[in-house]
Amino acid sequence: MVSQLEEIDSLEVLVINDNELDPISRYPPDVTAIGNLLHIALASPEGPPQNRGECIKEVKMDQICCGSHGISLMITATKGDQKRTILFDTGPEESGWERNVSRLRADISQVEVIMLSHWHRDHSGGMLRAVEMINEGRKAVNKTSPVTVDLQPDRPDYRGFLGPTGIISLEADPTFNEVEKAGGVVVKNAQGHTVLDNMFYISGEIPRVTEYEIGLRRAMRFVNEQDKWIEDTLIKDERYLMVNLKERGLVVFTGCGHAGVVNTCKNGITNGNGVPIYAAMGGFHLADAEAPTIENSVRDLKDLGIKLLFPGHCSGWRAKYEIEKQMPGCLAPSTVGTKFTFV
Ligand SMILES: [Fe+2]
Repeated sequence: MVSQLEEIDSLEVLVINDNELDPISRYPPDVTAIGNLLHIALASPEGPPQNRGECIKEVKMDQICCGSHGISLMITATKGDQKRTILFDTGPEESGWERNVSRLRADISQVEVIMLSHWHRDHSGGMLRAVEMINEGRKAVNKTSPVTVDLQPDRPDYRGFLGPTGIISLEADPTFNEVEKAGGVVVKNAQGHTVLDNMFYISGEIPRVTEYEIGLRRAMRFVNEQDKWIEDTLIKDERYLMVNLKERGLVVFTGCGHAGVVNTCKNGITNGNGVPIYAAMGGFHLADAEAPTIENSVRDLKDLGIKLLFPGHCSGWRAKYEIEKQMPGCLAPSTVGTKFTFV
């Protein structure tokens, strides 16, 4: 299938949640990133501290975002005078999402659509509070339409995994009813589709084409009707988000990468009408992968001609090391509190 994805002029990504915090490290010269300690101090609404001579600002520790296991990206695409914003996942917990939004002073009233990459609590845990806060923000600026929540229809009753001595369950994802009760307009989409004037593409099921991307080992789902746990290693509901950035190429966002980051990027090229991928950001789920899988993944991402990689969430330090080794200058880790701008 080929999507109707429009070219956009620029892109901004605000990392509301990610596993890693790093307000010090530098990014490669091609990456525009704001969120280090200097930026945090200068963005503080408070004036210069008293009795400290010529000091102009103070770094307030309670203005630094906190990382937690999950991901949430506020993504704004601009085309001409049109600006559209989508929230990609909501992180693992409501209080963390609220705290980081507040510290970032993020204008969440701009969010029109929330998409969930897949049903896993580290992506959906902040959902209900996010819906409420976004709708409150929208009302405050006289935007009457509530936020749309784009969900994959196949919601497991519970997800979990087979541990050494038995099945470990995750907390339940919010139900469709709970999302609606919180004020979200639920739309269910199993197939790939564009949203927000065709400026974003949300994929359907991601075809598994590489030999080494085998899904999430030991993953299980509980089926209420059968009252039993069944194997669920493929996490078929996982989908990605994509934009087509003018004169750069596609930018692909992957939540956990259970379908495989290479499978995801290959499908992105297919659905992006053959446009090359400029950048991929999000969870590449290589943290617990065997060494050959990490090496093969990075080799194949390099062969796809991707210019920048923003591994975050469940990508793991070994994958980042491998990217730096095989693709020097292309590594730009996604860290909480950072705003990336692409033009
Ligand atoms: Fe995840």
